Amino acid sequence: MKKIILMVGVVFFCFRQSAYSMDNSKCMQCHGDQGFYQKFPDIKQPGMYISPATIAGSVHKGITCTQCHTAITGYPHPSTAPLQKTAIPAMCSTCHRDVYEKYTRSIHWTALENGVTAAPVCTDCHGTHGILKITNPGAKVYPENIPKTCASCHDSVKLAEQYNLPLNRLTTFENSFHGIALKFGDLRAANCASCHGTHEILPSSDPRSSINKANLAKTCGKCHPNATANFVKSRVHVVVSKHGEKGPYIVRVFYTWFISILITIFVLYVAFDIINTRRKKKNRSKHS
Ligand code: HEC
Ligand code: HEC
Ligand code: HEC
Ligand code: HEC
Ligand code: HEC
Ligand code: HEC
Ligand code: HEC
Repeated sequence: MKKIILMVGVVFFCFRQSAYSMDNSKCMQCHGDQGFYQKFPDIKQPGMYISPATIAGSVHKGITCTQCHTAITGYPHPSTAPLQKTAIPAMCSTCHRDVYEKYTRSIHWTALENGVTAAPVCTDCHGTHGILKITNPGAKVYPENIPKTCASCHDSVKLAEQYNLPLNRLTTFENSFHGIALKFGDLRAANCASCHGTHEILPSSDPRSSINKANLAKTCGKCHPNATANFVKSRVHVVVSKHGEKGPYIVRVFYTWFISILITIFVLYVAFDIINTRRKKKNRSKHS
């Protein structure tokens, strides 16, 4: 009896698998064809060709196109396409409900709902068809890649001016202790998301925000258990320039000169040493 159940199970599993791939292969007959744009010369929208390798490498390789693109069942496609940016979170919510609920409480979603089209949805931070596991070093949200992912918007002068956002978030982070440690591969160091959160990001003025003054002890305390009130006050985004904060600027200039002079002396020392050794060798070979 057990054997029969197992057999039926295996057959059912294989059938499901083939039903899935059949479904995707129907879509990929067009969208996975490198000649897509030759076949449909009127279509100008980029991104219509999807590399089969991207799909096969993605964390979602086990789900079908139509589990996300629920409105599309065949061709021609319904007029509800193209997909609106604001419809994307709901598309993911069928399987990632908890993340979706957190995200809809964030400044990013609130802004989007208020017409700030530049604010990110799921795919801005994760990608679309090539989403990888968050532990994969190639993922857009792998700790070392998070600063670049956030900075694609938060280091943009245009966005900063348009939405009155503070600039230089990436450079100030990269110059910070955490930024340097992260660059050297120390994944324990804080990245943007360690302090700001991921899906529930809120501005510092919001009392619920992880970077609201009242919550900093807890936020930094995750990794600095004995953080004092003074420690917590140490600024993270310090603009180091002549016109920014003087202290760090002077220290920076001093060290730049100090290290440069030190290196020059060292190089000269080594050079003289080599010349000296050569001369001695020559002299010795002359004498012998
Ligand atoms: C995990 C959900 C998900 C799956 C699975 C998925 N898509 Fe998509 N797809 C999206 C999202 C989200 C967009 C919108 C991208 C954007 O506008 O940034 C999109 C956009 C597209 C586009 C329009 C081109 C573009 O970049 O705007 C095509 C064509 C497409 N998908 C085809 C497919 C095919 C074919 C499959 C199956 C092999 C598939 N998709 C599987 C989520 C998905
Ligand atoms: C016969 C070829 C063909 C097949 C099969 C096909 N598509 Fe398309 N698809 C197109 C063309 C052409 C477009 C360009 C817009 C249009 O014509 O609607 C498109 C557009 C899209 C878009 C983008 C809509 C937009 O305008 O942003 C998505 C998403 C998409 N297809 C998904 C799918 C999925 C999922 C399947 C499988 C169920 C599929 N397609 C099957 C040819 C095809
Ligand atoms: C502002 C960028 C950003 C946006 C927008 C975003 N995410 Fe994430 N997401 C991240 C980061 C960063 C991580 C990695 C967190 C970690 O390392 O613990 C993550 C982790 C995840 C994870 C795995 C861990 C978990 O918490 O379950 C899933 C699933 C996920 N996101 C889905 C989504 C979906 C669905 C949406 C849209 C509703 C979304 N994300 C929107 C940045 C974002
Ligand atoms: C039909 C269900 C389904 C939909 C819709 C879906 N996902 Fe997923 N997603 C999954 C499953 C299942 C996994 C886990 C796969 C695994 O662990 O191998 C996953 C994994 C992920 C991960 C990696 C999580 C981790 O722990 O590393 C991210 C990020 C993610 N999805 C984002 C999205 C985004 C963004 C969308 C919308 C564009 C979306 N998903 C839509 C089913 C879905
Ligand atoms: C696709 C662009 C985009 C990406 C990616 C993005 N953001 Fe944002 N972010 C915005 C926009 C636009 C706003 C402004 C919303 C508004 O109008 O209040 C914002 C607002 C914020 C705020 C509140 C700022 C303030 O002064 O009110 C914080 C904090 C923030 N984002 C952090 C992050 C972090 C951390 C990441 C990466 C995990 C990230 N963002 C990824 C576009 C982006
Ligand atoms: C060690 C913790 C920490 C890290 C790492 C960090 N931030 Fe911040 N961030 C803060 C704090 C605290 C504030 C509020 C005080 C300030 O502006 O300096 C802030 C302010 C901001 C703001 C303005 C939000 C507001 O409401 O004032 C944005 C946007 C922002 N950070 C984005 C980023 C980005 C992008 C990264 C990564 C490149 C990052 N942060 C890394 C702690 C951090
Ligand atoms: C995800 C963990 C994490 C978070 C959150 C975090 N840090 Fe750190 N921080 C580290 C690590 C790891 C180091 C390196 C410590 C070492 O190597 O000794 C570090 C080092 C530092 C240093 C320099 C070394 C020292 O101990 O004086 C300062 C200053 C600092 N962090 C301030 C903060 C502040 C302020 C916050 C909150 C706004 C914060 N950190 C949040 C992980 C974190």
